[in-house]
Amino acid sequence: MVEKNGAIRTLSVDIGGSGVKVLVLDITGKPLTERARRETPQPPKPQAVIDAIVALAGTQGEFHRVSVGFPGVVRSGVTETAANLDPEWIGFDLATTLSKRLNNPVRVINDADMQGLGAIAGKGVELVITLGTGFGSALFVDGKLVPNLEMGHHEFRKGETYEEQLGRATLEKVGEKKWNRRLQKAIASLEHLFNYDYLYIGGGEAVRVHIELPSNVKIIPNITGLLGGIALWKD
Ligand code: BGC
Repeated sequence: MVEKNGAIRTLSVDIGGSGVKVLVLDITGKPLTERARRETPQPPKPQAVIDAIVALAGTQGEFHRVSVGFPGVVRSGVTETAANLDPEWIGFDLATTLSKRLNNPVRVINDADMQGLGAIAGKGVELVITLGTGFGSALFVDGKLVPNLEMGHHEFRKGETYEEQLGRATLEKVGEKKWNRRLQKAIASLEHLFNYDYLYIGGGEAVRVHIELPSNVKIIPNITGLLGGIALWKD
């Protein structure tokens, strides 16, 4: 990288089921630009989503590397699942394809993992869940990520998964009151399973959480999903 370390600008990208968001971070992870957002293209196929990222990137000025949070399992830059996007993502080399389009190195991880990296304290067992189109999850032990946790697709109650019970489509169907009651049950169940020191709740719908939360459970702002992008380059 030709720039002096302090001048390195990271474009952080959050691909969601309903919106694609970007902003630029400085070397310390502080935002340098206003967050820009576009609706996720429909159908959300790789080419269309990449076009949206490239268009958004054009609004952000200069950057030298790119971090992407993707709503599915990601291994070595390749997307392996995409429950809320399109089957064309299965086996798609997002890192290489986007890197060619943006002429910069690209690193990709799961969106909840990226959100978690922006939220955790780095001590003990920390669990992150995200409430949006899907149900995201990320687990950290002393700051070290256990990647691709995918709890959302595990059974929670009444034969349904966490995502089926708490995803956005269900929230719209059952309403906030019932959804909050379910969330309370989910927190109790996760506490039982993980015995976490901290649980962070993020995602676009976290603003609709109205239940009283235990002192080790915190709501985090949705922008954390983008702030976590700096941690992908910490090696
Ligand atoms: C996906 C996860 C993702 C979550 C939130 C789920 O459907 O399987 O990988 O983190 O949605 O976007």
